[in-house]
Amino acid sequence: MKIRILVGAQWGDEGKGKIVDLLSADTDYVVRYQGGANAGHTIKFDDQEIVLHLIPSGMFNGDAKCVIGNGVVIDPIALVEEIEEVEEIGVTLKDRLFISSSAHVILPYHKVLDNVKEKNRGKDAIGTTGRGIGPAYVSKVARLGIRMGDLANREKLKKNIQQNVDDINKALEHVYNEPKIDAQKILDDLTPAIDRISPYICNTTELLHNAVDKKASILLEGAQGSLLDVDHGTYPYVTSSSPTAGGACAGSGIPPLAITNALGITKAYSTRVGNGPYPTELFDEAGEKLRKNGAEFGATTGRPRRCGWLDLVALKYAVRLNGLNELALTKLDVLDDFETIKVCTHYEHNGAKTDVFPLDTGELEHVKPVYKEFEGWNSSSRNIDSFDDLPKKALEYIRFIEEYIGVPFTMVSTGPKRNETIIR
Ligand code: IMP
Repeated sequence: MKIRILVGAQWGDEGKGKIVDLLSADTDYVVRYQGGANAGHTIKFDDQEIVLHLIPSGMFNGDAKCVIGNGVVIDPIALVEEIEEVEEIGVTLKDRLFISSSAHVILPYHKVLDNVKEKNRGKDAIGTTGRGIGPAYVSKVARLGIRMGDLANREKLKKNIQQNVDDINKALEHVYNEPKIDAQKILDDLTPAIDRISPYICNTTELLHNAVDKKASILLEGAQGSLLDVDHGTYPYVTSSSPTAGGACAGSGIPPLAITNALGITKAYSTRVGNGPYPTELFDEAGEKLRKNGAEFGATTGRPRRCGWLDLVALKYAVRLNGLNELALTKLDVLDDFETIKVCTHYEHNGAKTDVFPLDTGELEHVKPVYKEFEGWNSSSRNIDSFDDLPKKALEYIRFIEEYIGVPFTMVSTGPKRNETIIR
């Protein structure tokens, strides 16, 4: 029995979807525990490609039960669109999809507030995905939220939505000078989605407790990445949930002592979407090449991702933060045709060298990365299925990273398909 937490060890977009899909063949339950439709987990199999935002990435390889846990914030209309896409591929969701009755609902006013607040921040905008994530978590913590289990009681739902809308309309009208929202329209648009998803809403905490008792194997699928964590990331340029391993228990109801493994996913370089400090960001041809080779455009918003070299100071911080005991290295093939490859081993700040990731975002903005340079391997790493058969210079690069962070790579991904993965 393995109860494994899988987290992004960077700023998201590490290729978690592919790894979850791969591991789900031997997994009984795949559980999303935080975030919402801001995530975009891309899965490729046979000739299909699908981007999942809310449904866990365990639907297509084996028959794992897929759970949307209590820590997720759910836009019912976006979820219905996704259910339909999955069903179109031929997957039946009955007895496969389970949605926590305690998960909070994202309503249209959350998206309006997300976008209005971003507009108001001007040059200090966070660069959110505009999916209403922050305001939905605000409603939850302010104890004004509506939960999936509340959708069944239409009278109460109507009253709650009306109360929230009345409140928000005051702000929209008097503070933000924006058009008001119509509560009845929200309800009318929501009703068909509620009817469609209500068969899947249940007590997933009980479901998972029983799974733990039966010694089932469980994979807790994190969205976004450790450096976007609301507590431990580059605040305020973060998402509003806890993607780190600590968030997995709160967002699923699985107790900490049941967890057996923590698997981190990192790319062989780095990317970031949205604003905020990013010490190893490249603004030159190498950055352009990473973007082009790696097709680094957001799976949810289509935005070009900021690209840079691998940052070992940040990665080591993520390893310690999550207690990672396994790591998967993804997109190694993106570096196949680089003459030289760099990794950041230290930061320089005010004349001093450090390998500690600063918690102060202002300081992080001003650090200068110190790099170690590697010769590129200039040959294809794709279709290699044994670790030791990788190009010698690629092995040197990988072994240096392992030594620095003190955790082995148990998987190396050299392409988007399932079979383009070296299991060590
Ligand atoms: P929000 O989660 O939409 O509030 O956005 C907050 C920050 O997190 C922004 O910088 C987004 O670009 C970033 N973000 C949110 N979701 C993802 C993701 O799945 N991958 C990468 N970045 C993300």
